Amino acid sequence: MAVQFWYKTGKPQKGKFLTITNGYHGDTFGAMSVCDPVNGMHGMFQNVLAQQLFVDSPSSCPGGEKESACKMRKMLQQKSNDIAAVIMEPIIQGAGGMKVHSPWYLREIRNLCYEFDVLFIADEIATGFGRTGELFACNHADISPDILCLGKALTGGYMTMGATLTTPRICEGISKDNGVFMHGPTFMGNPLASAVALASVRLLLDSPWKERVRKTEKQLKKGLTSLMETSNIVKDVRILGAIGVCELKEPVSDMTKVQDDLISNGVWLRPFGKLLYTMPPFNAPIGKEEVNVITNAVLEAVKHEQNRRQ
Ligand SMILES: Cc1ncc(COP(=O)(O)O)c(C=O)c1O
Repeated sequence: MAVQFWYKTGKPQKGKFLTITNGYHGDTFGAMSVCDPVNGMHGMFQNVLAQQLFVDSPSSCPGGEKESACKMRKMLQQKSNDIAAVIMEPIIQGAGGMKVHSPWYLREIRNLCYEFDVLFIADEIATGFGRTGELFACNHADISPDILCLGKALTGGYMTMGATLTTPRICEGISKDNGVFMHGPTFMGNPLASAVALASVRLLLDSPWKERVRKTEKQLKKGLTSLMETSNIVKDVRILGAIGVCELKEPVSDMTKVQDDLISNGVWLRPFGKLLYTMPPFNAPIGKEEVNVITNAVLEAVKHEQNRRQ
């Protein structure tokens, strides 16, 4: 969509994407090309993926966000003529690192896109529909993207559906001179999936979702933050909305053992590398007890992992 917009508006050389490291955007070829190139998920495809531009995501050191924003500015100064868009997951990155950044950083990146005339794509496939405590993560920074990617909670998980939203500027640019959008998969706009999405979004908006996310956040904090003091294998605990992340100092030694531990405590989570994370549902009332089952299972799994390492 971004590439077609520039092509139709007289800047066909703007075909690259710029992003930050530790991102995850999916497993199809275009999406894989903007995922973190070194964190292990798509290494075997590197030779066939389009080469995109990367800037280090903010480190957790003081000044980390400023430094990353400066690198982004430098890259845009040098290459904006070739760049269609900056793509990123706003406020919290997903499976590529579950790293959180501030609304300030997000606003800064958005403003750089305005300054250097590149589009801003917000991938809210994981963060959309309330997950971070705001309906969309972009709302934390009061910004609006040129292109918004949605999926997952769009249908509440009941049917597969993704959606790409854009602004009148992009839409009119593409449609100029009888232009049509050049992507039309067989099942695009599937009526049944659309009906499910509408019903699901209506149910969410009619529910006290914000309150539920707030309560889940409180409970996740209560259950997981102690790990920072009680475990010497834990590097960081991050809680944002209905997302709880425990980052270990080293990758888990045996994924199946950690998973078996979690399952024996009644919880299905998928540990990945150094990360153990949970994103509990909030489309129905979820009580303290349910969140506690999850956090207790994580505490137990970390304890056993620590014992295995000694
Ligand atoms: C932020 C983000 N973008 C994109 C995707 C990919 O979505 P899909 O698996 O529906 O292609 C995911 C999936 O986990 C995601 O978390």
